[in-house]
Formats: sequence, C-alpha cells, structure tokens
Amino acid sequence: MNKQLIFKKRPVGMPDADTWQLETNPIPDPADGEVLIQHHYVSLDPAMRGWMNDSKSYIEPVQIGDVMRSGSIGVVVKSNNHRTFKEGDVLTGWGGVQQYAVTNGDNWYKVDTNLAPMPMYIGTLGMPGMTAYFGILQEGKIKEGDIVLVSGAAGAVGSIVGQIAKIKGCRVIGIAGGPEKCKYIIDELGFDGAIDYKSENLATALKRECPKGIDVYFDNVGGEILDTALTRLRTRARVVICGAISQYNNKTAVKGPSNYLSLLVNRASMQGMVVMDYAKDYGKAAQEMGMWMMQGKLKSKEDIYEGIENFHETFMRLFSGEKMGKLVLKVKED
Ligand SMILES: NC(=O)c1ccc[n+]([C@@H]2O[C@H](COP(=O)([O-])OP(=O)(O)OC[C@H]3O[C@@H](n4cnc5c(N)ncnc54)[C@H](OP(=O)(O)O)[C@@H]3O)[C@@H](O)[C@H]2O)c1
Repeated sequence: MNKQLIFKKRPVGMPDADTWQLETNPIPDPADGEVLIQHHYVSLDPAMRGWMNDSKSYIEPVQIGDVMRSGSIGVVVKSNNHRTFKEGDVLTGWGGVQQYAVTNGDNWYKVDTNLAPMPMYIGTLGMPGMTAYFGILQEGKIKEGDIVLVSGAAGAVGSIVGQIAKIKGCRVIGIAGGPEKCKYIIDELGFDGAIDYKSENLATALKRECPKGIDVYFDNVGGEILDTALTRLRTRARVVICGAISQYNNKTAVKGPSNYLSLLVNRASMQGMVVMDYAKDYGKAAQEMGMWMMQGKLKSKEDIYEGIENFHETFMRLFSGEKMGKLVLKVKED
C-alpha cells in the first residue's frame, strides 16, 4: 500500500495537523513508458508553506485533495518500457509526500549513490544547495575580500552560502538562532563570526561583527533581520532576497523593510531569486560542489527524521528551528 499525505485545508498562520490527512491507497501501476518509484526520503522545505497559499507565485499552489508537493528521492521498483530509467535506478524529482510515485520521468534526474548518500541529493547536491550556489555566486556576485552576511546560517541554504563565500575568500558572518547553531557555523563550517538573533540585539551585534559594514547580505528570513541588515550596507552592496521565513506564517501583511533608503544612499541593489531559473546549469554546479566536498572544503549536514506519520511535527521544525542543516523525512519503512 502507498501512504500519501493529502493536502486538505489551506492554513491561516501556522499549519496545524488538520492541514493534511494521511491516506493509505493501493500502489499505482506505471502505464506504458512510465516508472514506479519507491520513495526513501522526502525533502521538507520552507517553500512548501508558500505553495499552500492560494495566491500568485512563481509556481501554481498545491490544490486541495492533491498529494502534498515536495522534493523526493527513491528507487525505481518497476519500469514499464521507460525509454531511459530502469529498475534499481535512483531518481530525484518532485514526487510529493508519499511512499510511491508514478512518473513518465520528466524532470526526474538519475543520481549515483556511490558518490553521495540519498539525503544529500535533496540537500546540498539538490535544490537547497543549488539555491545557495547560484544565489551567492550569480546574484550576490561575491568577490575575494567581500564581507558577507547570511541569515538562516545553520540551515540548508544558509550553511552552504557561507561556506561557498569562504571558499571564494570572503569574510563571512552568520545569523542563527541559539548558541549551538552559532558554535556550529564557526567551529564546523569555518564562518568568521556568528550572531545569535534570539539572544542578542542585532544592531549592536552587527556593529561588533561587521564594523566596516556589509558587501553582500544573503537573506533567508526577511522581517526585522532584513531591515536591520540594511542599515549596515556598504557602497554598491548587494542584497539577495532568497526567502523570508519569518513572514511565511503571518496572519497580517508581510513586514517590508523600512530602511530601504539605505539602497539609495549606498547605490546598493536588492535582487530576488528563484532557483528553478538555473535548472539547466544544476549539473555543472553539483559537479563543482561535489569536488569541494571531496577536497574537504564544503560540509553537508542532513537532519533526518523517520515516518510519514510524523510529517506534521517534523515539518514544524522548520519554523521552530529545532533542527540543524537540511531537514529530511525518511518515508520508506524498513
Ligand atoms: N528563492 C529560492 O529559490 C529558494 C530556494 C530554496 C529556499 N529558499 C528560501 O531560503 C530560506 C532558507 O531555506 P532552507 O531550506 O535553508 O531552510 P532552513 O534554513 O534549513 O530552515 C529554516 C530555518 O529558518 C530559521 N527560522 C525559522 N523561523 C525564523 C524566524 N522567525 N526568524 C528567523 N529565522 C527563522 C530557523 O533557524 P534558526 O534556528 O536559526 O532560527 C530554521 O532552522 C527560506 O526562506 C526558503 O523559503 C528560497
């Protein structure tokens, strides 16, 4: 049987457990030219919260009654004359929160688990890693000596952004919640400094950590943190708007930055990004990131929880911050 998480109700504010319903349905049969994939892991991402809203975005919202959309990785257990994929292939794509998915293979990619374990292909070598790579290199346009500030710094995207900036010779300061995460980004990931936004006054801490200001601010959280970071921009600074997790569960309007005139004064720019725009170059990026990993310059951390039944409480860790690195849910039952 196939356990599937069905989207039942559009949440207002934080999603509660009734937002989804777990259903058990027969495992589908692949039609001619399709494959059946047994999911091992699904990716839990902040973007999933945005896809639940019935509003215009860069992608269609999830519809009520659909399997909850998510990234996933699994093994082909049946191929019905598929042109490329055969049984045993490991594929990653947008299979949703369910134990089995049927697909014609469009937008699924075969990966090699001899090179990296499955969860890494939905983390550092998957969508979050690609976001970090293209966000900091193409949108942030970092160069050696830049002072880079990144929020959500111990998370899937932020931890990779900071490490890539270090590889490129930047001075990197991370903002994260709690002493454990701040210690981790300095001791394990090699950041130059850390700010615990939950216990420190951010404006004061920014003056301490970035006395000369900021050349690039990579924003994963929005709200007050974005607004405060704007006060520290240097001339021609770049602000990359990657996400705004502090605003995703708002019941009121999104809080926009009031300090935006800092862009004018400093001839700075603020640029939004969507990782999918870079899809054709994912392969090259993954190769370079894989090389950095082999050289010990880039570390990847996945925080893995088990059981599709535990989807809701695990998903909520994205918003409470009770996780480190990339949040992954194992849905295959042993
Ligand atoms: N534009 C794109 O194409 C794209 C692609 C992927 C992801 N994103 C965005 O990138 C951001 C990071 O995604 P991710 O996958 O790397 O998630 P993540 O950082 O692994 O997980 C979310 C983290 O956000 C922090 N957080 C939660 N609520 C917060 C709040 N109110 N204020 C400040 N921090 C808060 C928590 O860390 P602490 O414990 O440190 O608070 C939590 O661990 C998200 O905004 C996501 O939507 C954008």
